[in-house]
Amino acid sequence: MIDSVAVIGGGTMGNGIAHVCAQRGLGVHMVDISSEALEKGLATIDRNMERQVKKDRMSSQEKEEALGRIRTFTDPAEAVQGVHLAVEAIPERAELKYELFGTLDREAAPEVILASNTSSISITEIAARTSRPEKVIGMHFMNPVPVMKLVEVIRGLATDDATTETVMELSRTLGKTPVEVNDYPGFVSNRVLMPMINEAVFALMEGVAEVEAIDTVMKLGMNHPMGPLALADLIGLDTCLNILEVLHRELGDDRYRPCPLLRKYVAAGWLGRKSGRGFHSYQD
Ligand code: CAA
Ligand code: NAD
Repeated sequence: MIDSVAVIGGGTMGNGIAHVCAQRGLGVHMVDISSEALEKGLATIDRNMERQVKKDRMSSQEKEEALGRIRTFTDPAEAVQGVHLAVEAIPERAELKYELFGTLDREAAPEVILASNTSSISITEIAARTSRPEKVIGMHFMNPVPVMKLVEVIRGLATDDATTETVMELSRTLGKTPVEVNDYPGFVSNRVLMPMINEAVFALMEGVAEVEAIDTVMKLGMNHPMGPLALADLIGLDTCLNILEVLHRELGDDRYRPCPLLRKYVAAGWLGRKSGRGFHSYQD
């Protein structure tokens, strides 16, 4: 049974994963190379748990206990000592993940499961950088993690049944519904979602409609909870671009080519909510 985890990366996804693990009683080692990101991550967890307290979904005491289960680290090698599973949530760049998994493999005890929250990168290729490919798996949470019910569980070519079952069980313990899929670029979630977001950016670039109009058409017309451009801002435009690059490169099909306007926004540092500006503005 998994009762302690290391969450590597305390950004948009990492702090959400740490939040749900601590809320469900697990010990959490939250690690980020940036102390500022750790401070911001903890403040976000505090704020999101406070929403739950205000809605009577958690008592103040439960909130304090959950926060007390989170310890912070700046060194992944130190953070994986004494845990049963590590889940990685660092930026969507293959070379960063390969290097980190090499470190985690060297430093964590041999029985520790190494999971990745990657949105699109091959689990098989990440696993090949370790000496325990049977214990490497995709554990793909959705944003915002405390709200979204899905965990997409991705088996690499060598992932074994015991690892898959442990991660499916852990997802249920966290109140999520796990769905198992195979290892192909973007898995199911982003193979289907990202072309829609990319097409919305093309529609904006080509002047088909303004930002608000595109989002409103998809919200009111398709009953999506938020429009595709607002969703891209929630995900992070850098993350969307990185996912599209993986789909384009790995599937070799031009229908996944990232829209030049998306590239331009990322180049300008307009990354969406996390930078205060994307297709929409988040100054407040
Ligand atoms: N953390 C914790 N709770 C949050 C939250 C957050 N960041 N944001 C919203 N909530 C909670 C609110 O407290 C509220 O809770 P209750 O229903 O219990 O009252 C609930 O979520 C709804 O929030 P709001 O009423 O404030 O706002 P909303 O109704 O507009 O919902 C939303 C916000 C949940 C984000 C909704 O707009 C939504 O579902 N959007 C789509 C999200 C989505 O598609 N996510 C997947 C992204 S793709 C991905 O994650 C994979 C990838 O690899 C890129
Ligand atoms: P983010 O940019 O918000 O956060 C990444 C964090 O990782 C940063 O705080 C950064 O300082 C830290 N970091 C970088 N290198 C590190 C290292 N070597 N060790 C420890 N920390 C390090 O990114 P995010 O949106 O949280 O995405 C993280 C992962 O989750 C990506 O693989 C992404 O594709 C995936 N994902 C994102 C979403 C989303 O909606 N944003 C949804 C599902 C999955």
